[in-house]
Amino acid sequence: MNKKGFIFDLDGVIVDTAKYHFLAWKNLAKSIDIDFTKEQNEQLKGVSRVKSLEKILEWGNKTISEEQFTSLMGKKNEEYLSFIATMDDNEILPDVSKVLNYLIAQKQPISLGSASKNARPILEKVNLLSKFDAIVDGNDVSKAKPDPEVFLIAAKALNIKPEDCIVFEDSVAGVQAANTANMISIGIGEKEVLHEADYVFSDFTEMENSFIEELINR
Ligand code: BG6
Ligand code: MG
Repeated sequence: MNKKGFIFDLDGVIVDTAKYHFLAWKNLAKSIDIDFTKEQNEQLKGVSRVKSLEKILEWGNKTISEEQFTSLMGKKNEEYLSFIATMDDNEILPDVSKVLNYLIAQKQPISLGSASKNARPILEKVNLLSKFDAIVDGNDVSKAKPDPEVFLIAAKALNIKPEDCIVFEDSVAGVQAANTANMISIGIGEKEVLHEADYVFSDFTEMENSFIEELINR
C-alpha cells in the first residue's frame, strides 16, 4: 500500500484556538497602546510566539528592553493558557476526527507540525494525542514558519520523503513553509487568503474520502 506523510498544523486546523491566540495578542497589544487589525493578525497565524511579539512591536513602532519583551511574552501565554484551561473535545474542528480516523484506517503516517509550545497539552485535553505517529512542535524547531524546518523534521520523523508529504494549514506562513519544503499544501480556510496553497477547503467537512484516497495514490 502507498504511504504518504500527512502533517497537520494544530491551531486553526485541528482545534479552534486561533481565536484565543488573537484575543490574547490583542489584549497584550492594547496594554502597550498598540492596536492591530484582522489583516495583521492573519500575518501572526502560524508564526512563533517570539516572532509574533516582534511583529506587533514593529507595527506599533515600539522598542522595549529584553526584560520587558520576556515579561510580555509570559503575560500573553498566561492569558492564552487561561483561555484553553477548560478546553475539551468540543473544540476539535468539524470532521477533523473523521479525517484522522480515515487516515489511520488507511495505515497512513500522521504527524503534527505546529509552531506552538503548548501543542502536547492541547492534544491531550482534546484526546487526540494517540492519533499521531509523531509530534513536532515549537519545542523542536529553531526557525519559525514560513521556514520549512518544522515540516522537514516531521517528514523525517515519519520516515517519508518531503515530496510525499501533505500539509494541512490555516496560515499563509504555514502554506509557504509547506511549499518551500516541496510538499503538497492544503489550505484550510479562505481561498482569498490561502491562494498560494495547492488546494483550499473551507473546512474538513468539504473534504471527501475520495480526495484523500487520490492523495495517497498519486
Ligand atoms: C501557532 C499559532 O500555531 O503557534 C500562533 O498559529 C502562535 O498564533 C504559535 O503564536 C505559537 O504558539 P504558542 O502556543 O507556543 O504561543
Ligand atoms: Mg494554524
